[in-house]
Amino acid sequence: MNIRKIMEMKGKEPIVMITAYDYPSAKIAAGSEIDILLVGDSLGNVVLGYDSTVPVTMEDMLIHIKAVRRGAPEAFIVGDMPFLSYEIGPEKAIENAGLMLKAGANAVKLEGGEEFADTIRRITSSGIPVMGHLGFTPQSVNLLGGHRVQGKTPESRAKLLKDAKALENAGCFSIVLELVTEEVAKEITESVKIPTIGIGAGRYCDGQVLVFHDVVGLSQGEFKFVKRYADTYNIMLNAVTQYKEDVKRKIFPDEKNVF
Ligand code: KIV
Repeated sequence: MNIRKIMEMKGKEPIVMITAYDYPSAKIAAGSEIDILLVGDSLGNVVLGYDSTVPVTMEDMLIHIKAVRRGAPEAFIVGDMPFLSYEIGPEKAIENAGLMLKAGANAVKLEGGEEFADTIRRITSSGIPVMGHLGFTPQSVNLLGGHRVQGKTPESRAKLLKDAKALENAGCFSIVLELVTEEVAKEITESVKIPTIGIGAGRYCDGQVLVFHDVVGLSQGEFKFVKRYADTYNIMLNAVTQYKEDVKRKIFPDEKNVF
């Protein structure tokens, strides 16, 4: 996979993206031949146990990008730029985006609209592909006042459409739309030439992205936009509980496990 192929998929074939944070999740995602692996800063919530993505650092991201690259040597990997790694100015943004590529990412993703057009232009001019992210932008949770669906008012719709155009003109190769009304996500998808990848943004985006732990049922939250394909949490809980009981009852190790 590469950015040219991803862009050519628009309107022809749905793009599938999933987050991956470590060696095993990357191996599984690569084994499924998923189009794009996103090392999301959602690792702050699902792997590190923070209540938002705000505390996630560049150091955290680089460790996880390297692990994902080891698990998926051939995959197209997008590294998520964490809070304050690109907001301070284009120079800092280029430097941090470059570190992500050196760690193994093929592209970076950053949250925000028109206000980051110049930064995106500068990053892409340095040879680093950028994926945009509009709608509910988790790093701005404190400003947005919670997980709110975007695009519900005429002002919000107009801003999203304007931001999507600005990201396209700045050189983004695709845009994530998170928690956007289906109608507005469709309108954005039809108004830009680059693919949109939705999460909680309905059926008409060019692709979909979900968090690995939600897909496999390792996370516990209930979100309307998630489809859970397995109950891994309970499978793991049962396995660990059975192991504990076997040791307590002196069933494990048995003669098959000894030297
Ligand atoms: O960090 C993440 O997992 C994301 C997705 C929700 C798109 O940004």
